[in-house]
Amino acid sequence: LLSFPVTMERLSSFSLLLVGLLLLCVSLTVSLSPCLRQSDCALTVVENSEEGEGGAVGSEESQEEVTEVVQPSEQWKTLSPGQAVPAGSHVRLNLQTGQREVRLGEEQLKYWTEEHRCVGRGHLIHDVVCPLFISSSIMRRLLEQFNNSSSTTEQRLKVLLELEYLVHQVTAPHTLTVDNAQSLCSLGGLPLVLQGLNSSDVRLQENSAFVLGSALSSNPAVQVQAVEGGALQMLLTALATAQPLRVKKKVLFAVAALLRHFPHAQLHFLSKGGFQVLTELFRADAGGVLRARIVTMLYDMISEKLMSQSGLDLVSDESHQERVRQYHQVPVEAELLEKGWCGLAPQLLQSTEHDHREKALRALLAMAPTCWHVYRSDTSLLGSLRSLQEQYHDMVQSEMIIGEESSYYADILELVQALQVRMK
Ligand SMILES: *[C@@H]1O[C@H](CO)[C@@H](O)[C@H](O)[C@H]1NC(C)=O
Ligand SMILES: *[C@@H]1O[C@H](CO)[C@@H](O)[C@H](O)[C@H]1NC(C)=O
Ligand SMILES: *[C@@H]1O[C@H](CO)[C@@H](O)[C@H](O)[C@H]1NC(C)=O
Repeated sequence: LLSFPVTMERLSSFSLLLVGLLLLCVSLTVSLSPCLRQSDCALTVVENSEEGEGGAVGSEESQEEVTEVVQPSEQWKTLSPGQAVPAGSHVRLNLQTGQREVRLGEEQLKYWTEEHRCVGRGHLIHDVVCPLFISSSIMRRLLEQFNNSSSTTEQRLKVLLELEYLVHQVTAPHTLTVDNAQSLCSLGGLPLVLQGLNSSDVRLQENSAFVLGSALSSNPAVQVQAVEGGALQMLLTALATAQPLRVKKKVLFAVAALLRHFPHAQLHFLSKGGFQVLTELFRADAGGVLRARIVTMLYDMISEKLMSQSGLDLVSDESHQERVRQYHQVPVEAELLEKGWCGLAPQLLQSTEHDHREKALRALLAMAPTCWHVYRSDTSLLGSLRSLQEQYHDMVQSEMIIGEESSYYADILELVQALQVRMK
């Protein structure tokens, strides 16, 4: 048997497109052969150059169009003509049969072993950085363990912690994008995590919501699949019934992540009574942690809709009109009025935290076109604004004496004054 690296020269007869793709891959092949799962990187490039410039494959093969990509394993596999392998694979020529054979490259084998070590005991060790190209098979094992009726609650909790860690890994240095949150969906993990919300164990509820929220954050594909999988109803039920504060926090995080920039989900959230559930949460939350988050959600929904209607959307493409149309259907304003938010949101101004007050002020300004007539007759709001104005005015003054140039307190003061102007 003769092992050989496949050199760049061999590939010169490939079409320009393939060479372009190859260059992309080669530049990324350095460490962990990240192209393993990327079919567009599927060209034969082998790393182990210490084996010399050894034999080339028959020259006719270099003319071949690549018709299929073979995923190597730790066993040697015979390649048929036209089959290509991912970068980083180890290819050898079997001199007896004259055929090429492939298995995982050295680096890959190392991590293949690593993976067994990492997940063998049921959880990953985070300081061992497991490369992303194996993370979907790690995820498959984790999901199997989560789904296995003989797993204990402790084991399931560990699985959720690992999943939460994994779904953040969208990109890593030297690799192409691997979207673990989407792997979670494609491996059937979403229904499992949603069921976790409905668990009788609050720790499972809390961590399932955490995984869900992290997977949904800024991930439109996951948002869509979650809604299609019934996530809205499950989350809404969880939001209405979750008991300890820390579970409520995580469920709210997941709800906010699901609704963000997703008018279709917002519409259904409202039509299923979402604002009513938020109203009850707000009233019951004396501590204020949830209050600030809820008011921020309202602010996000109002400002997204406004931005869409004023053409200030970040993306302007053919789906723009459709988004405008969908946002138009979300009855945020009517719901704010109907569920009493014009009177409720100002209560957040009574918080002692600058950050909460700032969030409240921004939301109140965004709600002003809908709420101004309610604000005007709200003597408690008028009083709060007057006292905040004095307080932040004094703080800005004393900062000016010290010589600060720009100030957070000056920003808050501006918000207070802007709101006072709106109410005149
Ligand atoms: C569930 O876990 C047990 C114990 O680890 C194992 O023996 C069994 O094969 C697993 N079942 C499935 C369906 O994976
Ligand atoms: C969970 O287990 C059920 C029944 O054993 C099986 O049908 C389902 O495919 C499993 N789901 C996942 C994601 O492993
Ligand atoms: C949630 O759990 C309850 C009781 O454990 C069950 O009756 C209900 O069907 C579950 N809901 C979902 C959506 O799985």
